[in-house]
Amino acid sequence: MRNQKLLVRIVALVLATCAITSNACPKSDQIAPPDFAWWREARFGMFVHWGLYSEAGSVWKGHFLPGWSEWMLNRKKIPPAEYYAELMPRFDPADFDANAWVLAAKNAGMKYIVITTKHHEGFANWPSAVSDQDIAATKFGKPIAEGGRGRDPLRELADACEVHGLKLGFYYSLLDWAHPDYLPRREWDARPIDGAQYARYTQFMRAQVKELLDGRYGKIAVLWGDGDWEHGAREHTSDEIVAMARALQPGILVNNRWAQPGDYATPENLIPDAMLDRPWETCMTLNGSWGYARDDHDFKSAPAVLQNLADIISKGGNYLLNIGPDGRGRIDPESLEVLAGIGRWMQTHSSSIYRNGHADLPVPEWGRWTMGTNQEGRTTFNAHLFSPPKSGLIRLDGVIDDPIAVRVLGGEFAAPTFRREGPDLIVKLDPSVLGAIAKASAHSVIAFDFASQPRIMTAPKILGDDRMFVGTTTVRFAAPPTGAMIHVTTDDSQPSINTLAIQANAQGEFAIVLDQTSTLRARTSWQGNMSDAETAITFTRSELSPAKACGDRVGLDARVIAGTFEIVPANDAFSGSTQRSVIESVAIPVGVPADRYAIQIRGMIDVPASGVYRFEIASDDGSELWIDGVLVINNGGLHGATPKVGDIALAIGCHDLDVRMFESVGTEALVLRWRLPMTTNFAEIPVQAFRH
Ligand code: GLC
Repeated sequence: MRNQKLLVRIVALVLATCAITSNACPKSDQIAPPDFAWWREARFGMFVHWGLYSEAGSVWKGHFLPGWSEWMLNRKKIPPAEYYAELMPRFDPADFDANAWVLAAKNAGMKYIVITTKHHEGFANWPSAVSDQDIAATKFGKPIAEGGRGRDPLRELADACEVHGLKLGFYYSLLDWAHPDYLPRREWDARPIDGAQYARYTQFMRAQVKELLDGRYGKIAVLWGDGDWEHGAREHTSDEIVAMARALQPGILVNNRWAQPGDYATPENLIPDAMLDRPWETCMTLNGSWGYARDDHDFKSAPAVLQNLADIISKGGNYLLNIGPDGRGRIDPESLEVLAGIGRWMQTHSSSIYRNGHADLPVPEWGRWTMGTNQEGRTTFNAHLFSPPKSGLIRLDGVIDDPIAVRVLGGEFAAPTFRREGPDLIVKLDPSVLGAIAKASAHSVIAFDFASQPRIMTAPKILGDDRMFVGTTTVRFAAPPTGAMIHVTTDDSQPSINTLAIQANAQGEFAIVLDQTSTLRARTSWQGNMSDAETAITFTRSELSPAKACGDRVGLDARVIAGTFEIVPANDAFSGSTQRSVIESVAIPVGVPADRYAIQIRGMIDVPASGVYRFEIASDDGSELWIDGVLVINNGGLHGATPKVGDIALAIGCHDLDVRMFESVGTEALVLRWRLPMTTNFAEIPVQAFRH
């Protein structure tokens, strides 16, 4: 263990120098990919918000402010100097006991901790060589020789995590209300902005992130950025920071709040309705604040948290549940009680949590399904019964194989028996089991063990996401479970057992060819039984939009108008523009006002082959993409830079291009990418493709 730690430190030290000199850095293909294995197994982690705001507890000048305590400086419009003068001398978390925190997490079944190292207030929780607003400037962190306690909470936490076998991650805020170079300045902050340089702030950020990851705290599993919304990735130097993190901590996971997509999404205080198409983690407060808030006693209950956990895992996500220790370093008794309740349930139910994920079964009315596979390949479907059905019936529709065991987790009950109705498995819980479940302190789980992954008659899956075609198209299906068949209609009628089943072709693919616009409906059958689950998708045959003579100049015409917009302005709105320029590609031209403007970018786009092009536009705020007079993407409205896609069939050669976008206030962004016909990835559009 020790040697390993030493090795990590040495490697990290070598890599740390590379971040400054840059030439000794590992090449990107030598950088370890993000390590999701532990994260997927873990599923459940603890978020800790802890900074100067914890000392205030949302109380300023004797008044309690409901809501997020870590935002107090901003919400009360407190000048940073005053905030620091009040809270720094008071901050002395003498009762901080890293082992107690880590054990509280561990006993609740959490496998990792992500702690705020610096929140928006700007205070560093660790002795930072590049900041005076850090723990070393408080009584707690000052050397003993200078009358302090000489303690470093991150050091203590890292050690405790190592002892108790939890992974550690660091939250770091890009936003900084106190740093003299951070801009924009809040309007109540009287410090002059003359001389403030954002580039110097990013240098400071890089130095701080390096301190956190250079190995002094051992292995760090996650870098959790936040507060990225006031600047774009380029200004934040996100690429550099993330590359440094990956070099210093091979396998580290980076979240999506570095003004870039990162490795995973972080829905905040909400659980998505369905699976997301990328790894994700919901972070959630336990009461109404992230940081300690003295008078907020509105805590979620352990059963509510456990239902959230099951809901999240059923959709393939992770759950990062927050606690806010106070300024003395203590976790309040109410949070501890909830954590203990979670832990009691986890003792007997964690097999339905760890290593579990989405189960390919319809979402039941009574709760959620999670599915786990153990090392030997045994697969368990876990029925999380939030509100057990009065009938006592639990159905696994379309599960063809029989379970080897059915168990009530943690219960003293006889194993329920199952019966089969065609392709459906049915379990009936008898009244005594239902009665016991009703009395349990949190939701019950029934586990269905299968010797291996059981065959399920799900709705047939169509491979690929092309929905528009030119001429003919081949629609491919994922192979059905052995012994099952796929029945497909192309005229929007419901497939029945008499509908012809598709056979595997010579390549072993299940495919059909379409030559006209068709709504395809497909169901699976097994031994004469049709599944209820159906796939229905319309494929549109389109004509190629003809090409035109290309303009002879490269680049695009940009026109800017100032004004407050909430929708994408029409073409005519730009006729009065006095700010015109030629730009290389679709991007925000230099010299636009900071806020409140709209731009139109016109010219031609030269496409290298005939076929269906998919375009993706990410803009903040709204935008529209028009090609040959057709609205291909409508990404209108006020929003952040979420990408939106649209398809159009284009003949090889040049086509009219018209991109319009408006920016209200805050972050601005405009990125247009394309996916060439018959390919699967989006790519940057080369500048040679643009003409005017
Ligand atoms: C936010 C808030 C913040 C909190 C975080 C957690 O962006 O600004 O206070 O730390 O989300 O997700």
